[in-house]
Amino acid sequence: MNLVMIGTGYVGLTTGVGFATLGHQVACVDIDAGKVARLDRGEVPFYEPGLQEALKHVQEKGRILFTSDLKSVIGGAEVVMIAVGTPPKSSGEADLTALFAVADQIGSVLDHEAVIATKSTVPVGTNRIVLARVREAMRAAGREELTSLINIVSIPEFLREGSAFEDFLQPDRLVIGSDDRVAAQITERLHRDIIAPRVMTSLESAELIKYAANAFLATKISFINEIANLADRVGADVRHVAEGLGHDHRIGPHFLKAGVGYGGSCFPKDVSALEQISGAHGYAFKLLSAVIEVNNRQREMFFKRLVEELGGVRGRRVAVWGLAFKAQTDDIRESAGIEIAQRLHATGAELCVYDPQAMNNARAVLSPHVEFAPTAMDAAEGADALVVLTEWPEFREVSFSTLHDRMLEPRIFDGRNHLADLHLENQGFIYRGVGLGSYASA
Ligand code: UDX
Repeated sequence: MNLVMIGTGYVGLTTGVGFATLGHQVACVDIDAGKVARLDRGEVPFYEPGLQEALKHVQEKGRILFTSDLKSVIGGAEVVMIAVGTPPKSSGEADLTALFAVADQIGSVLDHEAVIATKSTVPVGTNRIVLARVREAMRAAGREELTSLINIVSIPEFLREGSAFEDFLQPDRLVIGSDDRVAAQITERLHRDIIAPRVMTSLESAELIKYAANAFLATKISFINEIANLADRVGADVRHVAEGLGHDHRIGPHFLKAGVGYGGSCFPKDVSALEQISGAHGYAFKLLSAVIEVNNRQREMFFKRLVEELGGVRGRRVAVWGLAFKAQTDDIRESAGIEIAQRLHATGAELCVYDPQAMNNARAVLSPHVEFAPTAMDAAEGADALVVLTEWPEFREVSFSTLHDRMLEPRIFDGRNHLADLHLENQGFIYRGVGLGSYASA
């Protein structure tokens, strides 16, 4: 089938390359001409395992192209998919400026029957507005008679950064929301080779499923973080508690890792947006407000304990391992590593940081006075404390005896419990995790 994908961020690009991999003909459109040029040369502008190779493959097969000119590729498109960003405003509300601009643009150039499919995460009710705007722009362009042939579907994405391409090909489910049976069938045909349960539903339900899924996962994380805080006080180990919970099929083992809380481009934004949507409909979603509060408090508590145990950080040398919001990505949006590094710097610590992938992104936001080390070991040289904030596998593979010798004080604060099973206390470290019972006796 012929597909136009608008927006080449990590969702749009991964999905575009994914559909091309399935054999469809895909034209990817982005207003950023520099990005289009890079993609055209086969360069993925962010780190996402497997995507670079997949892009190369579909480019060689001639199944994908990149352009800034929507008009030049829209002819013949059966599906026009929108995957532009909906970043949060300061109120928590999703900013739909880019989305609506794209809707107007589609309407101004669309001259044949097509399905508009929205991948972007949008507040409930937005898809109806998008369709109305596309049709309005078509009318303005003198194509009133075609408007009834244009329909919209909501197909939310559930891609995790770091395994997005795999998630595209093997999703847990496909959600297709539409009022129009034919539009839903065409969308279903586009996904024909993807084996997964289908949830065929209305626009509103599809829109809400996306927010509900992320909010539920965030709730699991905040829940286990509350248990972790209690575990610290009663001398229990949250990892064992999570294991004991996870074997119960009704609960499941996933998203029960305690730590400094969730970050990234989706959870913080979507949970706040859902809280905001509820409020706008006159409903106080109390659980969500608590999920957000617990997540904020988690970082706060971690930072306070670090400062307290060090007896203040002014003039102390602190190493930070991990700036990406999670492993296998270079994304630093809402990252605990960045926030804690900024706070340490602002409180007067001498800071040296390291991340395997996120150094360039971090340089753009951290103070020029922060040192960037070429390796994890170099970052820890002469440090009074080492703070671990992303669960990169390589952090487990360093020589801990060398690390012990190179640090001024062998003190590790692990915000992910990433090194907890290495029993570093037995190698002479003072080791603090989250919810390991460490603070019951401390
Ligand atoms: C998430 C959703 O999983 C995905 O379906 C959606 O489409 C986009 O948002 P992503 O942001 O890539 O994906 O990361 P995810 O793996 O879900 O982790 C989100 C955050 O939660 C990270 O900061 C991670 O470190 C944290 N997390 C995750 C925990 O603190 N504990 C856990 O047990 C799991």
